[in-house]
Amino acid sequence: MQLKDNFNRSIKYLRLSVTDRCNLRCFYCMPEEGIRFLPKDQLLSYEELIRISKLLVDMGVDKIRITGGEPFVRKDLVYFLESLATNERLRKLSITTNGILTKPFLPRLKELGIDQINLSLDTVSEKNFKKITRRDDFKKVMDTFYQLLADEFKVKINAVIMEGINDHEILDLAGLAAKYPVSVRFIEEMPFNGSDSHRASLKWGHTAILNHLQSKYGKLRKLSSQANSTSENYSFDGALGSLGIIAAFSRTFCGTCDRIRITSTGEMRTCLYGHNVLNIKQILREGHSDASVQKRISDVVQKRAGDGFEAEKLRGKLNPIGESMSVIGG
Ligand code: GTP
Ligand code: 5AD
Ligand code: SF4
Repeated sequence: MQLKDNFNRSIKYLRLSVTDRCNLRCFYCMPEEGIRFLPKDQLLSYEELIRISKLLVDMGVDKIRITGGEPFVRKDLVYFLESLATNERLRKLSITTNGILTKPFLPRLKELGIDQINLSLDTVSEKNFKKITRRDDFKKVMDTFYQLLADEFKVKINAVIMEGINDHEILDLAGLAAKYPVSVRFIEEMPFNGSDSHRASLKWGHTAILNHLQSKYGKLRKLSSQANSTSENYSFDGALGSLGIIAAFSRTFCGTCDRIRITSTGEMRTCLYGHNVLNIKQILREGHSDASVQKRISDVVQKRAGDGFEAEKLRGKLNPIGESMSVIGG
């Protein structure tokens, strides 16, 4: 069985946010103080996450990305990954992490077949790291980065580009792709920061980032990417790695979107910019059968918005975007 939406897009990629907690306070993601994290019983338990993942894999999902908050902040994450990894129909299991707690787990991740890690890193400067994340953990993240390289993981670096904050570092970040076999992906900032005080600026859209990169490297060569890719990818002469640009705010890749999400609150979202469409936690806890859970999922997937703009409109004025990305998982 292959789950399809009302636009005939196959749903193959599940993003699972396993916690809203994080050991950083990146200002594009959450405010410095006053965040109320969820009590543990409001998260889906690992048993519930395993069950829902299996039901979705049975419906045709073949890739799961673990997100947070910061996934490794949740206790016993690795036992959960071990259990998920036993599902042979799951083609790809991957994690997006800030890298602070990740290093000791790398050998085990490799054993589990998790060989691709997306590392959030918005700066190559220790000082700027502290400014952006409000924490002093740059060295730990770089330690994890070097270990990922030594262990030959496929690494994607995710850098959110913010006007006046790290836009002067775009070329330095790109330098990582020149020097190391990694993909450095520049992300348009989105307005999911849980705060009224910070507004995402529109200055660094896809074209502006591309032009800036080309001012140094000349015309970048476009690489072919998978149809469902969030990033447009490029190579340049002499580079060991590649560059990518993710038009997360311009939303140019919705036509091939194969993603659904389960937020840390146990809600399903059929678009990042949309609202909660199904309370998975509730239906699991009410004791519905597998078939009944799957039917409800098919029903909401049949009502999907065509793109992120339509999804945003459907949220309505009473429900504007503004929650922290740590709840949705990106
Ligand atoms: P791969 O699986 O390696 O392709 O990674 P990914 O880009 O799907 O996921 P990742 O967690 O690394 O996210 C990178 C950036 O893309 C983050 O800023 C996400 O919020 C953003 N992103 C991921 N999926 C979507 C999406 O469906 N829509 C939009 N607009 N942005 C997304
Ligand atoms: N805009 C764009 N990307 C964001 N992320 C978190 N908040 C935002 C935002 N407001 C990114 C993180 C991580 C990924 C899951 O989402 O940097 O790499
Ligand atoms: Fe998919 Fe919505 Fe993201 Fe577009 S904005 S790619 S429809 S999740």
